[in-house]
Amino acid sequence: MDTRKLINAAMTARENSYAPYSGYRVGAALLCGNDQIVCGCNIENASYGATVCAERVAVFSAVASGIKEFKAIAIAGGADEEKDILSDHAYPCGMCRQVLREFADPETFKVYVARSLDDYEEYTLEELFPKSFGPDNLK
Ligand code: THU
Repeated sequence: MDTRKLINAAMTARENSYAPYSGYRVGAALLCGNDQIVCGCNIENASYGATVCAERVAVFSAVASGIKEFKAIAIAGGADEEKDILSDHAYPCGMCRQVLREFADPETFKVYVARSLDDYEEYTLEELFPKSFGPDNLK
C-alpha cells in the first residue's frame, strides 16, 4: 500500500470537514483489511459535545458498511486556511485511540500523522496507546 495514497485520501477528506466552531479541520483515511480506503472528517455541532472526530467517523463508517479489519490510518489536521502543507501534526485524541484499539491489532496497525504527502510521522497503535484495555479483557 502506498502511504502517499492514503495520506492524499486523508487530505481530500479533510476538505469535507465541518468545523465552524474550532476552525480546525481534520481528515482521516482508514486502510481496511480488503485494501479499501474508508474516509472520515471531523463534524462539529452547535452543541459542542456532539462533535465527532475524523478518525471515529472513518471507523464507524467502515464498520457500518460491514468492515471490521483495519491495517492503517492516515490523519491530516490543521487550521481552516491551511491546505497542502499543514503546520500541525494532528495526533489522534484519546477517545479515537480507544476506538481504533477495539478493531486494530496494536502491534501491527500503523498510524500516519501527516503534514503533507511527504512529511509524516509513522507509529504503531501500541506506541501511541500502550497498555490499553481491549476486547480480550472481557473474554
Ligand atoms: N479532532 C479530530 O477530528 N480528531 C482528533 O483526533 C482530535 C480532534 C477534531 C474535533 C474538533 O472538531 C476539532 O478537531 C478540534 O478539537
